[in-house]
Amino acid sequence: MSAEFVVETRQRAFEPVTVGSLHLRNRVVMAPMTRSRAYDTRPTPEMATYYGQRASAGLIVTEGIQPSAIGQGYPATPGLHTDEQVVAWRRVTAAVHAAGGTIVAQLMHTGRLGHPSTTEAVGHGPLTPVGPSAVRAKGTIFTPQGSQQLVEPLELTENEIEATIGDFAAAARNAIDAGFDGVEVHGANGYLLHQFLTTNANQRTDRWGGSPENRMRLTLAVVAAVAGAIGADRTGLRISPNNGLGDTEELDYATLYPQLVRELDSLGLAYLHLVEAGDPALTPVIRSAWSGTLILNAATPDLADHPGRLDLIENGATDLVSFARLFIANPDLVARLKTGAELASPDLSKAYGGTHEGYTDYPALVG
Ligand SMILES: Cc1cc2nc3c(=O)[nH]c(=O)nc-3n(C[C@H](O)[C@H](O)[C@H](O)COP(=O)(O)O)c2cc1C
Repeated sequence: MSAEFVVETRQRAFEPVTVGSLHLRNRVVMAPMTRSRAYDTRPTPEMATYYGQRASAGLIVTEGIQPSAIGQGYPATPGLHTDEQVVAWRRVTAAVHAAGGTIVAQLMHTGRLGHPSTTEAVGHGPLTPVGPSAVRAKGTIFTPQGSQQLVEPLELTENEIEATIGDFAAAARNAIDAGFDGVEVHGANGYLLHQFLTTNANQRTDRWGGSPENRMRLTLAVVAAVAGAIGADRTGLRISPNNGLGDTEELDYATLYPQLVRELDSLGLAYLHLVEAGDPALTPVIRSAWSGTLILNAATPDLADHPGRLDLIENGATDLVSFARLFIANPDLVARLKTGAELASPDLSKAYGGTHEGYTDYPALVG
């Protein structure tokens, strides 16, 4: 098959699409990526440059942003819970809008995946991470002192759960105040909402644990609160059934997620963002349980195969596709995919922290 033919059959990916209240210029989404380059929990001018360079994506989903001090799990990540953070984000959203792009803030509460030394380093702690239950995740986490063992989290009380839901809603309001076009709630990858969905991190016996209905209650409550705060038509949710990240075990994922998605369906959200890696066979099931817009982060781990994701739009498997790692090295990824141009490989040793190197110094193709 010639390169020209391949490009021609993938045109739908480059057509504009309306997602909730968002008018996107194409169906290629930049997936959320933590890059740990914030200063004192505020986005820097360099971060505005980075996102501005990538504004030709149909939609940019930012790196995970903590909705509260306790929600911060990694060094040098930004927040959306203080006035100073809101002011600093305006430079980022302005840079993307000036380049004609659309950007939503990913709200990420890392739950039990955190460390007291990380919050201490930004003057908010030391705070013991919180989770559904006092169950320590196996493994280590990167901290200002390097890699350290994860600690046993504090079990959230009922009141703290309600306060956490309020923190998400307040951060969503702040996101709009900061100029974002919407919010993606992070319900994936082993962080707080995902922890509640699991059969291992969540050992609660109250209405937030036990049955599938109880374990999905927090995700539904947070999404409803965010939608209530800023409008469902600019609220999205990211999920990652069975991907095991953060020592998560989901014995009933094959039935829980379709049920979750059916419950979500009536809320009229802008989109659902599905990380497929945990079980690609579930994708068509989710697709048919969901009447709204689907963004698929397809299970194609080999970067060389990533352009093939565009075929999933053509064949109706999804409405939009997202790319993470390729957007690190290809700020003009959309143009390259459209023309079949060569794709640069990301240097993942520079993924987290550091300077502009491996961050804003990847050139766009000229001409
Ligand atoms: C450096 C890096 C940081 C990431 N940070 C986040 C994050 O903050 N939030 C999130 O939902 N996913 C995060 N992810 C996961 C990506 O969004 C994506 O699901 C994953 O990389 C697979 O997509 P890809 O094959 O296109 O890279 C991150 C991935 C990478 C490589």
